[in-house]
Amino acid sequence: MLEVNGLSVEVEGKLILDNIHFSIKKGEAAVLFGPNGSGKSTLIKTIMGFAGYEVTKGDIIFKGKKINDFSTEQRVKLGLGIMYQHPPAIRGVKLSQIARVLSKNEKDIRLMSERLALTGHLDRDINLGFSGGEMKRSELFQVILQNPDFLLLDEPESGVDLENIGIMGKVLSDYLRDAAKSALMITHTGYILEYVKAKNSCVMIEGKLWCVGNPKEMFESIRKYGYDKCKECVCPRVK
Ligand SMILES: Nc1ncnc2c1ncn2[C@@H]1O[C@H](COP(=O)(O)OP(=O)(O)OP(=O)(O)O)[C@@H](O)[C@H]1O
Ligand SMILES: [Mg+2]
Repeated sequence: MLEVNGLSVEVEGKLILDNIHFSIKKGEAAVLFGPNGSGKSTLIKTIMGFAGYEVTKGDIIFKGKKINDFSTEQRVKLGLGIMYQHPPAIRGVKLSQIARVLSKNEKDIRLMSERLALTGHLDRDINLGFSGGEMKRSELFQVILQNPDFLLLDEPESGVDLENIGIMGKVLSDYLRDAAKSALMITHTGYILEYVKAKNSCVMIEGKLWCVGNPKEMFESIRKYGYDKCKECVCPRVK
């Protein structure tokens, strides 16, 4: 469903991503690990087509279409959805208003707001003054209502307490049970892996993808030996 071929990306003239290759099939979820500042969020933002992320080499293919030159709006219409690492607050727009733009189904909005414990937040401005965990639940709420075929999740569980990780994890695993949906998730803590079945994982270090393997095994290896060990890993290096 998503294929990235030889992607290099510059931000403000500085090379951040260097010759990235990977593909994720329909119905599959994949995980991206990597140290702070390695380029994980840059990859996700580039896939979404955000301004300032200049593709200097390579292609992004989504549903068989080369989307390099598509606007973010076109990419969203084609089925991409993002859950931000640092979601913006939007003053003057209530969570219920955006929910009604994203979904025409009042029942879905009500049920999802109940599942994500957000009924008390619907009348508030989007993310304004929300706690860290509330913001993450609000992000998940919005992206699920948008109903994208491909979810890009940038640290969905960071700053979320264990009980709420359970709530969010169940929502995500129900969503991804649909064989037509795929996802790419970034995680540092690995908690989300308890809920979402991911087939493959990769490690990004200094803007390069180093390793492909089983997410839980890779997470354990990183926990025990650190990221640098990934560079010496026996897994075949991603070309
Ligand atoms: N708009 C920007 N202007 C300048 N530098 C940027 C910009 N966006 C990203 N960078 C730099 O690119 C590098 C990669 O950033 P990125 O946010 O992709 O890292 P990350 O892997 O998501 O890290 P983290 O785990 O901390 O979220 C960092 O050194 C960052 O400072
Ligand atoms: Mg990041």
